[in-house]
Amino acid sequence: MVVSAPSLRRLEAYEEYLKVKSLYWDEEKGEFVWLDTRLLPFEEVYRRTKDYNRVARAIKTLEIRGAPAIGVSAAYGMALAAIYSGAKTVEDLMRDLEKAYETLRNTRPTAYNLFWALDRVMNRARKEAEKGDADRVREAVLDEAGTIHVEDVESNIAIGRHGNKLIDNGDVILTHCNTGALATSGFGTALGIIRYAWYEGKKIRVITTETRPILQGARLNVWELKKEGIPFTLITDGMPGLVFMRGMADLAIVGADRIILTGHTANKIGTYMVALAAFDNDKPFYVAAPTSTIQKTYNPEDIVIEVRDPDEVRTVLGRYPLTLPDVDVFNPSFDITPPRYITGIVTEKGIAYPPYTKSLPRLLD
Ligand code: MRU
Repeated sequence: MVVSAPSLRRLEAYEEYLKVKSLYWDEEKGEFVWLDTRLLPFEEVYRRTKDYNRVARAIKTLEIRGAPAIGVSAAYGMALAAIYSGAKTVEDLMRDLEKAYETLRNTRPTAYNLFWALDRVMNRARKEAEKGDADRVREAVLDEAGTIHVEDVESNIAIGRHGNKLIDNGDVILTHCNTGALATSGFGTALGIIRYAWYEGKKIRVITTETRPILQGARLNVWELKKEGIPFTLITDGMPGLVFMRGMADLAIVGADRIILTGHTANKIGTYMVALAAFDNDKPFYVAAPTSTIQKTYNPEDIVIEVRDPDEVRTVLGRYPLTLPDVDVFNPSFDITPPRYITGIVTEKGIAYPPYTKSLPRLLD
C-alpha cells in the first residue's frame, strides 16, 4: 500500500545531516522502519512493521530509545494504527486510535517527548474527525507524524548550530549516554552539537562514559563516533570525577528525557554525578534538548522516574551474569540534575541560562 505524507518531502533538504538512518517511514510499503539499537555496535539490523503494537514493544525493549526517537516512533505507531484500522466510520476509527494512544503511552514513563508527540497526533486526529471522513483522519495522522519527524531533524540541526558557539577549537567534551542519530530522527542533540562542531572543522575530542547498565555509551556512542571519525576515549561511569579533577575534559554536554520549568533535568542515570564532578571542578555542564522535552510544570515531583528490570543490573545485557541471580537490585533508568549545576540548556530556539524559571518559559512563548 502506498501511503505518502507530503510533510516528508521536507526531509530531502537535510540529507547531508542524516548519514545514519535511525528510523523512517517506507512510503511504498506503508511500513515503519527502525534500526534495532539493541544489536549495535556488532550488528546493523533494520526492523519493519505495519503493527503499532510492535512499535510499542520496540520502545519498551529499547530497540528504539532516546526521548526524541521514542516520540517520533510513537507518532508513526499512531499512523500505523490509523492506516491499518478496519474502521469504516470516524467514530470507530477514533476508538481504535484511543486504544493505540493508550498502548503507546504505557511504554516508557520518563521521556516527555513520548507524551508530547502522542498528544499532538491525537489532537490533530480529533480536529480532522470533526469533518466526518475516516480516510482524511488517516491522512492527517500520518502527515502529523511526518511533520513531527521533520521538525525533530530541524530542531537537532538548530541545537547543533546554537551549541556549536559553546565549543572552542581543541575542546575535550565529556558526554553521558547516547544522544546522537540513534536517539533522535538522525542527527542528535548533545551528540548533535559535537557532530556540528566537527563538521565546522573544530578539532575536538570526546570522552564518553560506558553508561551502565544498557551501555548506550560503550555500544552506541562508540558506533556513531567511529562512523564520523571523531576521536574519542571510552571511560566507565565512575571516572568523570577524576577526569575533571585532572583537567582532562573542558566541558560536559548531555541530553534530557524531561526538563521542567525550574531547569531540573531528568536524564540517564549517572548524569547527576557527571554534573557534580563538572561543578566541583569549575567546568561548564550543558544540557541539550528540543523544547518538546520540556514539561510545563514547576514541580520536580511531577518527574516520573522509570525503574527497570533488575536483571539489567545483574547481567551484561541479559547475556552474562555479573553477580548472583537473587541479589537485591535497584535499577532506576534516570536521575534528576538540579538547575544549580546546569550552566545552560541548549534548545532549537536558543540557549536558556539561569534563572531557568524566567528563561525557559520565555523560550516556550
Ligand atoms: O534509556 P534511554 O537509552 O532511552 O535513555 C536515553 C537518554 O537518557 C538520553 O540522554 C535522552 O533520551 C536524550 S536522547 C537525545
